Amino acid sequence: MDIVKIKDLTYKYPIGDENVLKDVNLTIEKGKLYALVGSNGSGKTTLCNVIRGFIPHFHHGELKGEVLIYDKDIREYELGELALKIGFVFQNPYTQISGVKDTVFEEIAYGLENLGVEVETIRQKVAEVIQLLGIEYLQDKNPQELSGGQKQRVALASIIVMEPDILVIDEPTSQLDPQGTEEVFKIIEIMKQKGKTIILVEHKIELIAEYADHVVLLQDGEIVTQGKTKDILSDERAMNYGVPLPQYAILGIEMKKKGINLQQIPLTENESVAVMRSWLATKGVKV
Ligand SMILES: Nc1ncnc2c1ncn2[C@@H]1O[C@H](COP(=O)(O)OP(=O)(O)O)[C@@H](O)[C@H]1O
Ligand SMILES: [Mg+2]
Repeated sequence: MDIVKIKDLTYKYPIGDENVLKDVNLTIEKGKLYALVGSNGSGKTTLCNVIRGFIPHFHHGELKGEVLIYDKDIREYELGELALKIGFVFQNPYTQISGVKDTVFEEIAYGLENLGVEVETIRQKVAEVIQLLGIEYLQDKNPQELSGGQKQRVALASIIVMEPDILVIDEPTSQLDPQGTEEVFKIIEIMKQKGKTIILVEHKIELIAEYADHVVLLQDGEIVTQGKTKDILSDERAMNYGVPLPQYAILGIEMKKKGINLQQIPLTENESVAVMRSWLATKGVKV
């Protein structure tokens, strides 16, 4: 099922005279993870804001073309109605923490509280999410006193507790160290397994290789290429648009150029091992 359908979308902010998105066509299938990649200023955040209805509901500007969420035009939704279907996680976890709650448990409960959900139901849902994400040890802490990675996980929990079908996550790890990054991706993995549809802006290409089903590459507001992760990230042309390839893919491409006939270009460590093994097997070497 296609959850988001964008047809011939062109968008210009109220301030600024250039189109920031140009002729964008994109279909988002249910349950898949789409990685939006491209250099700074290529329009990734703007596209996220279109998908969550922030454009045109908050930023007006000039929108041409069609954006359908569950086959209904984005302009026909109330912003609140969209917010229930689409959870949005910011780049900076500090801006996502409310600052008015004393414990992580209350912080995660905040959104449901604002919706007027019954207290007992809130308690139950918050406890479930805390357990699902494995952050029990954070629940009594003050949100202000958490590390960046912990804050980002709490920010994700406070969105996930609202049970949106779609998660739009804009550079969740850009301010995090490797450990914080790994913790955030564990949550993304859990959400994938739960069948959520995820739109993720992320620069760490090795993680995209590992988790994304599809890659959408933007440059200057245009989608220059899109497709299955294994096709986009094994093609050197991505590098022309400022997107690096995974180290394993670069090695595979170089080996092929030197006449080593690999079955496929590997993207991850596991794929590399498998590809090397089967190549060695063709040479009669068993490892
Ligand atoms: N609120 C805004 N008003 C006017 N121009 C904007 C606004 N936000 C972003 N832009 C411009 O739109 C282009 C795309 O920005 P953005 O979507 O933030 O790119 P990315 O997330 O890929 O870095 C940039 O040229 C940026 O300067
Ligand atoms: Mg951005």
